[in-house]
Amino acid sequence: MRTEIAPVIRLQDYRAPDFCVTSVDMTFHLHPTATKISTILNLRRNPDGFVGTPVVLDGDELTLSRLLLDGKELTLDDYTVSPDRLVIPNPPEHPFTLMIDTIINPSANTKLMGLFRSNGVYCTQCEAEGFRRITYFPDRPDVMAIYRVSIEADVADAPILLSNGNPGRRGIVPGTGRHFAVWDDPFKKPSYLFALVAGDLGTLTDKFVTMSGRTVDLNIYVEKGKEPRAAYAMDSLKRSMKWDEEVFGREYDLDVFNLVAVSDFNMGAMENKGLNVFNDRYVLASAETATDQDYHNIEAIVAHEYFHNWTGNRITCRDWFQLCLKEGLTVFRDQEFSSDMRSRAVERINAVRTLRAAQFVEDAGPLAHPVRPSAFKEISNFYTATVYNKGAEVIRMLKTLIGPANFRKGMDLYFAREDGNAATIEDFIACFADASGQDLSKFFRWYNQAGTPVLKVRQTYDATARTYRLDFEQSIPATPGQPTKEPAVLPITIGLIGQKGEVLAPNQVLVLETRKGTKIFSDIAERPIASLLRGFSAPVQLEFDIEDADLLALARHDQDAFNRWESLQTVAMRLLKRSTAGVRAGNAPLADTRLRDVFNSILADGLSDPAFAALALSLPSEGDIAREIGKDVDPSAIAKALDALLASNAAASLATAVDMYAKLSTPRPFSADAESAGLRALKGVSLSIIAWAERKEGARLALAQYHSATTMTDRFSALGILNRLGGNERDEAFASFEHAYREEPLILDSWFSFNAILRTDDALDRVIELLKHKDFSITNPNRVRSLVGTFVNANPRQFHRPDGEGYRFLAAFITDLDAKNPQVAARLATAFRTFKTLEPGRGLLAESALISIKEHVGISRDLSDIVERALA
Ligand code: TRP
Ligand code: ZN
Repeated sequence: MRTEIAPVIRLQDYRAPDFCVTSVDMTFHLHPTATKISTILNLRRNPDGFVGTPVVLDGDELTLSRLLLDGKELTLDDYTVSPDRLVIPNPPEHPFTLMIDTIINPSANTKLMGLFRSNGVYCTQCEAEGFRRITYFPDRPDVMAIYRVSIEADVADAPILLSNGNPGRRGIVPGTGRHFAVWDDPFKKPSYLFALVAGDLGTLTDKFVTMSGRTVDLNIYVEKGKEPRAAYAMDSLKRSMKWDEEVFGREYDLDVFNLVAVSDFNMGAMENKGLNVFNDRYVLASAETATDQDYHNIEAIVAHEYFHNWTGNRITCRDWFQLCLKEGLTVFRDQEFSSDMRSRAVERINAVRTLRAAQFVEDAGPLAHPVRPSAFKEISNFYTATVYNKGAEVIRMLKTLIGPANFRKGMDLYFAREDGNAATIEDFIACFADASGQDLSKFFRWYNQAGTPVLKVRQTYDATARTYRLDFEQSIPATPGQPTKEPAVLPITIGLIGQKGEVLAPNQVLVLETRKGTKIFSDIAERPIASLLRGFSAPVQLEFDIEDADLLALARHDQDAFNRWESLQTVAMRLLKRSTAGVRAGNAPLADTRLRDVFNSILADGLSDPAFAALALSLPSEGDIAREIGKDVDPSAIAKALDALLASNAAASLATAVDMYAKLSTPRPFSADAESAGLRALKGVSLSIIAWAERKEGARLALAQYHSATTMTDRFSALGILNRLGGNERDEAFASFEHAYREEPLILDSWFSFNAILRTDDALDRVIELLKHKDFSITNPNRVRSLVGTFVNANPRQFHRPDGEGYRFLAAFITDLDAKNPQVAARLATAFRTFKTLEPGRGLLAESALISIKEHVGISRDLSDIVERALA
């Protein structure tokens, strides 16, 4: 193997394809190690492309076995072929057909791109560039075609045969033990939305009647015996279909909607037309096996993939630079869906926590890139928090800026104008400019500029003039390839309140689109408290010279729930930053009595909004604190400061927590809804507070809760606490847990994860030991993420060991994994993205681990792309 030389692909080099594919007819002869695929392509020269150019088809590790043009076998003088390219230098100028036979080995496909086998099930993944691992094809999203697919397989091995679109003929192949099924997809689609699934699967079926009265058959395919566990996914699907009709006017368009759960999958799920394929952890759930977080994820991801049918499939991307056209918009849509299904405030807080933890960190480091990148080497590495989550924030700001009515008008226009097209961000934004009559050219900077804007705000109250003045100043830090920036368009939702929460100025949206701006509120009778960036109206880093006392008043009284949460977090964060700096200087960590009192009163009043209280009572994480410190980061000092504050807050709230825990411990029937989940979250927080205050009592209660739990959420919250406390109670619970769930892969994943977040100094040794566990498998992405991903991303104390062993371990593991699954290896390598923010000792050790990966012979394009950008 050699390290592939990766050319840079640039947005500015885009040109229309030279050939169009009008239709595709494929026949799959499925075999575990030698699947034969016969493909007929109807091609014609694209009037928008160049004339006289050759036909160039993409491949990836392909073997060509036969090639015919208009029915005539081609000789080696007529074409050139390699595993990654098929070229016909002198094609006819009239429309013509190519018949292409390829042979592939699905069982050997550990990359999980193209056609692979997962648990005996044939399955495909073609986004972004996987179709070229099945047959030679112009594998780019602006080549859209109608597909007919015939699948032939052993009846016993694969009674279920699925592809995109509507089902057609099926039958047996006499005397062979084989059968076939034909699928027709009437909608033009890009190759990345192709899918095929074949295997022996169990089915959960249902029906949905659309707004125009058509009946759609819904099927969810899972491992046999697990059909009941697909019930929540089915319920989520039906609610998603209904919601998209009601909120966006979008109706489903095929006779069937199929969804398949597989256990080996590189990402969460995939929106293939009419045949969504899911990582089974985002489908399977039962009261006994799934946590509230699992239920939430299933609902959100089922919705996300379903919503892609319009935002992604009916309207797709012209090229991969436009990825946020479908992903940012679809994340926005799934966030809105979750907000309508659950608590809007809680959803928003969690979305912002994710944004900061994943996207702000990405934006501040060497992997920073715009929501619409202008160049890439490996597109798989751009399925990022920036494209997805910041992409969703951009849509949310657009809606805030033009208002909900114009936003809906713009969406309607987009669906009407671009249906059936492969579109660009420019096409999308033009719809909102047209619908609202606003000039959105400055707003477009959000797509082209990387980096999180810093918004500095200074306040002045003039009691005699009764004016309150806010001076705003924004700047965007330099990012790779972008030393200077233009100001962003910032919608700043704001209100002014008094000390008791009286409204002194109503909620309003200020728009800052220059570097500096001033807002003067007149007729303000008393010194107001500004509630800025309500609902986190723009994804910026806010630096506001507001006193802690005012933040605590906002935490109590603001009308905006997001800012009630945010204000308290800000007070805690300021304290934690000071405390960490002190610890580094050799001082004792800090506590704060006012903060203790506020926490105690929030807990005491927790039943008024349990889910919100649970969030408000959660301090920033170690990762949050590291991000806010931003440079010369010492993870050990952060850990010490955080533990001390947790213990101090807990000590002051012990009695309240004991009381709340008792109240929440009365058994009640299980429901997965948000209210019940909120009660369980607050119960977990109460138990955690008890354990921080009284180690022994905490361990006793947690062990009892572990054994008596009737929900996985309660069991996990007990395990999390025991895991931190260590000792016999931990060992007892963990042995019981491993034994009880050894036949449940998804729960076993969590068992690996709990082991990976141990705080003790032998944590890394345990992780290394667990790589040899009989249930560990390097070819199963979920298992790899559970053990290694959790260690490097959720155990900062032990990953960032001062001796650098954590970094060396990750480098060695990644180079092993890369040979089997480069996408997952590259994803794991992003754990190094913050290395330049570390204190010099750790920073150097992390850098040399990165260099060791880079110098490893034969690493993939995926991995070298990440490592080279990280080191640049
Ligand atoms: N388009 C998918 C989604 O967000 C994600 C995706 C992209 C994916 N590439 C993938 C999933 C590769 C699995 C494997 O909905
Ligand atoms: Zn998506």
